[in-house]
Amino acid sequence: MEAHRRNNRRSNILLLLIVSLAATLVTSSASPITVTTGEKVELSLYYEALCPYCENFILNYLYKIFDNGLISIVDLKLSPYGNAKIRSNGTIVCQHGEWECVLNNVEACAIHAWPVVSDHFPFIYCVESLTYTAKYDEWETCFEKLNRDPKPVTDCIASGYAHELALQYADEINALEPPHTYVPWVVVDGKPIYDDYTDFVSFVCKAYKGSNPPQACLGLSLPTATTNYNAKPLNHVCYKEDDNAKLKSIRSETISATAAS
Ligand SMILES: *[C@@H]1O[C@H](CO)[C@@H](O)[C@H](O)[C@H]1NC(C)=O
Repeated sequence: MEAHRRNNRRSNILLLLIVSLAATLVTSSASPITVTTGEKVELSLYYEALCPYCENFILNYLYKIFDNGLISIVDLKLSPYGNAKIRSNGTIVCQHGEWECVLNNVEACAIHAWPVVSDHFPFIYCVESLTYTAKYDEWETCFEKLNRDPKPVTDCIASGYAHELALQYADEINALEPPHTYVPWVVVDGKPIYDDYTDFVSFVCKAYKGSNPPQACLGLSLPTATTNYNAKPLNHVCYKEDDNAKLKSIRSETISATAAS
C-alpha cells in the first residue's frame, strides 16, 4: 500500500515535470511579442503598380513596418489593381498604361506564389523600386536579386491565372465601403485613412487593442525622416479617373464630416 502510494506520487511528479517542460518550450519558442491573429490590426493597401504616390508610399513608408517591429501587430494585405477598369469585352485597362497592367499582374502573382506577406513584400518592393525609375522591363531581375525561383510567378502569368487574380482584386476594391476615390487607398481595420496615409503608423497603433505594443507604438523608435528614395510630395494621390471633380467634392465632404464628428 505504502509502495503503491509512493509510486503514484513519483508518477505525479514526473507528469508535473513533463507539463512544465512543455510549457517552458512553448514559451521560449514564441517571439518576444506574442499576438494572436484576432488582436492584429488589419492594414490594407489598395494600389496600382505605376501610380507614383503608391511607389512612394511603399518605398519610403510602408517598408518600415518590417524594420520597426510593427509587422508583429499588423495583418498587412496588398491589393494590386487600383483604378484599373474592366472593358465590356473582359480585358482590363490600367490607369498608367499597358506596363501597369503587366506589373499589377506580376505583383498579384507574387502574392499568390508566396502568400506570406514577409515573403511577397520584398519582391513587390523590388519591382516598385524599378518602376520608380521607369525600369519597367527589368522586373525579372528581382528573382535573382532575392534568390527566388521565378517559375510560380511566370507560370501564373503565362497560364492566364494572373487575369483571374486581377478580376478578384477588381471585385475586392469595388466592394469597398466607403468606395475608394483614389490610390494609395489605405484602410486600417476596415476604415480608410484618406490622405493621412503616410501617418498610417499612428492609426495602426491607435487601433491596436492587445497588450505589449511594439516599440514603434511607444514613441521610442518613431520612424525617422530618412528615406531610401527621393520622397515625392506628401499625401498626393492618383484619383480614380472618371468624374474627378465629383469625387474630389465627395472626398472633401467626407473629410469635413470626419473632422466634424
Ligand atoms: C477589347 O476592346 C479593346 C478596346 O475597346 C480592344 O482594343 C481589344 O482589342 C479588345 N480585345 C479583345 C480580346 O477583344
